[in-house]
Amino acid sequence: MKINIDRIKKDIEYVSNISATKNFGCTRFSYSKEDKEAREYLLQEFMKIGATVQVDGVGNIRARISGASKDKPIILVGSHIDTVMNGGAFDGLLGTVCALEILRVMKENELVFERGIEAIIFAEEEGSNFGATMLGSKCITGKYHKDDLISLKNDSGKTAYQVIKNFGFDPDSMKSMLLNLNEIYAMLELHIEQGQILDDSKNEIGIVNGIYGMKNVRVTLNGVGNHAGATPMFCRKDPMVVAGKIICEVENIVNKIHNETLVATVGKIFSIPNASNVISSQVVMYIDIRDINDETIDLTLNKVKKYIKKVANNRNILFEIEVVSSSKPVILSKEINDLFESIAKEKNIKYLNMYSGAVHDCAQLTGISEVGLIFVPSIKGRSHVPEENTTYEDIEIGGNLLLEAVVQLAKRK
Ligand code: GLV
Ligand code: MN
Ligand code: MN
Repeated sequence: MKINIDRIKKDIEYVSNISATKNFGCTRFSYSKEDKEAREYLLQEFMKIGATVQVDGVGNIRARISGASKDKPIILVGSHIDTVMNGGAFDGLLGTVCALEILRVMKENELVFERGIEAIIFAEEEGSNFGATMLGSKCITGKYHKDDLISLKNDSGKTAYQVIKNFGFDPDSMKSMLLNLNEIYAMLELHIEQGQILDDSKNEIGIVNGIYGMKNVRVTLNGVGNHAGATPMFCRKDPMVVAGKIICEVENIVNKIHNETLVATVGKIFSIPNASNVISSQVVMYIDIRDINDETIDLTLNKVKKYIKKVANNRNILFEIEVVSSSKPVILSKEINDLFESIAKEKNIKYLNMYSGAVHDCAQLTGISEVGLIFVPSIKGRSHVPEENTTYEDIEIGGNLLLEAVVQLAKRK
């Protein structure tokens, strides 16, 4: 029993073409018209194989093929279909279409195992809309509630609750659609690595031991907007200068902590009015801090907060620091990793045990079920950019390993 790589290629090519930025990578935000089109394609594919499809109140899609024992906890497999701005073709989409392909293989071989198998597509994993990653998986596992959806806002000030409602889902119904301990036996996800460890070391598969935690922090700096030519240097309150100092200090703080896994990034910044001849009145920037160790994330954040306070006060800049979203580091299932390893050994696959610096929806299911995550190599380690790429030879290896693991779990009594 094998996956059909041509079908996977066709799915990837079709869905990755649904992009708001056709000539510059994939831009497919959740709750956009591109998301709607991608959903329609995938729902049709699930219908074709007769899967039972359910879409919850925030747009997580669940497509199930029942097992022989209807009341036994099932195997979940899947990922997400949203992207970052100008992202790549494989992030999330690959794990999604591999899950779809597993259901197709089941159907065409008329296989019914002990346990049901469900493909799951989580909504809004990237946080592209509201700055909060894994929104769909946090909602379905009961970590986000209506209040959170109301407090999360996009760059135009619309709440997640409103955006999701306007798209046609009913976030109020989430209360009755949560995953529970008795329902899920295991959750498996296949993803691209998004870093260069596998490519550099010529490994074909990464078996993920743990996923970094993260905090996404919004810093708002309020100064006094004024004329860039007529305002002498000594009488300015320029929040952009403070932002620049903060960006450099974030890097210094991380380097000084000397921890190989700790990373921090400022990747998003707005200036008002964003004009070359005007001193900004306000700058809003986001700091993304991650590590496999929660204490180091907090240590970094505390040091960053202290610095912001000092530099902003020195220059009479008013500031606000808010944690927009956070997730804890997680350790994944040893039992599932042993299963991945035994299959990899049997198939002579070169694999490596590693951590994931990127966050993934499956992390949200730890504590509810056994969770396993495997990586396929990203060429030159590029991801969240249009150049993101993985060879179909590697995808075939990963897809077949995932299929075998799902089947072995589904057969368990
Ligand atoms: C999502 O890909 C993230 O790790 O931010
Ligand atoms: Mn992803
Ligand atoms: Mn991503």
